[in-house]
Amino acid sequence: MSGPGSSYDPKEAVALSADSLDTARVDGVRAFAAASDLDELKAARAAHLGDRSPIGLANREIGTLPPEARKQAGQRINEVRTALQEAYAAREAELEAARDAHVLVAERVDVSLPSDEGRPRGARHPLTLIQEQVSDVFLGWGWEIAEGPEVEAEWFNFDALNIPAEHPARAEQDTLYVAPAGSGVVLRTQTSPVQIRSLLTRELPVYIACPGRVFRADTTDATHLPVFSQVEGLVVDEGITMAHLKGTLDALARAMFGPAVVTRLRPSYFPFVEPGAEVDYRCYVCDGAGRVGEDRCPTCKGEGWIEWGGCGMVAPAVLRACGIEPVEDGGRWSGFAFGMGLERTVMARHGVADIRDLIEGDVRLTLALGGDA
Ligand code: PHE
Repeated sequence: MSGPGSSYDPKEAVALSADSLDTARVDGVRAFAAASDLDELKAARAAHLGDRSPIGLANREIGTLPPEARKQAGQRINEVRTALQEAYAAREAELEAARDAHVLVAERVDVSLPSDEGRPRGARHPLTLIQEQVSDVFLGWGWEIAEGPEVEAEWFNFDALNIPAEHPARAEQDTLYVAPAGSGVVLRTQTSPVQIRSLLTRELPVYIACPGRVFRADTTDATHLPVFSQVEGLVVDEGITMAHLKGTLDALARAMFGPAVVTRLRPSYFPFVEPGAEVDYRCYVCDGAGRVGEDRCPTCKGEGWIEWGGCGMVAPAVLRACGIEPVEDGGRWSGFAFGMGLERTVMARHGVADIRDLIEGDVRLTLALGGDA
């Protein structure tokens, strides 16, 4: 310490000596550099820049100096403090960057990852799929997909299809009529009215298919639904014969059930085809063997054949109703038509025993038989 009368030498104040200030700077810079995270850095800041740090204590000692020495001492302290603050700020920036980089990796979310957490999985319904598959078959042949309304005029659903007013198919128990009575409007009972709509609106020749829903006043049981699906096919061209119909049905059956499947026709009656037939396909499980007793094929129930739908050559009356001159009248045109139920096609393909399973909305069935949602 300086004695009375002598000029004050700041180097004599211990905390303010060049050595101790230098040590304070070196220690502080080293401590900041050594801090391995932001908490350690904060503690080092208190120790080396806080009130009770060497630099803090040195600052306090300034007050004990004579006024003329204070400025110089203050400058030295400031230099050290600035150096320490810079070292601190640099380390802080480093540690913050490291923390941010770590957080970015640790908390990273891959938004492209598929997630099914907490969300029940679904699938497309087998009926939707079969409509698309069957449409694809026809499109592959160069046919067009046609559509018609589900709420249909009686004329399209019956009259134009050669189903006269007194025909049993018109009786109340089969057909759902739209109110009021006598409106002439029904819920279509078949996709066949699309034949008429197509023949009235399209240029000949016509090659169309129409998958769609139909409605009948049936009670739901294991084999019947009041709302079900059909696919209709219609060809009108020059020189069309029953051989074309048979070949087309065989090709469709192969596309739906596998390469070995063939069809057979059994004579039957539909007012809009002449001749008319029911079409069966040969069971693709037993290859038509059917078998009896224990060995009985469960898919065709021992029959060897499975009923598929109706078909035939387009009746001349239908062509006439659409303003087309059939070969029978000396014209150029003839054609064939067919229609089959899609629910039964799905049931046969997947071994579904009860048609109600297809409409109950049980997601387990959809997941088992359906396709990717
Ligand atoms: N529309 C008939 C039915 O629903 C099926 C069919 C279509 C028959 C085309 C012959 C020709 O039963």
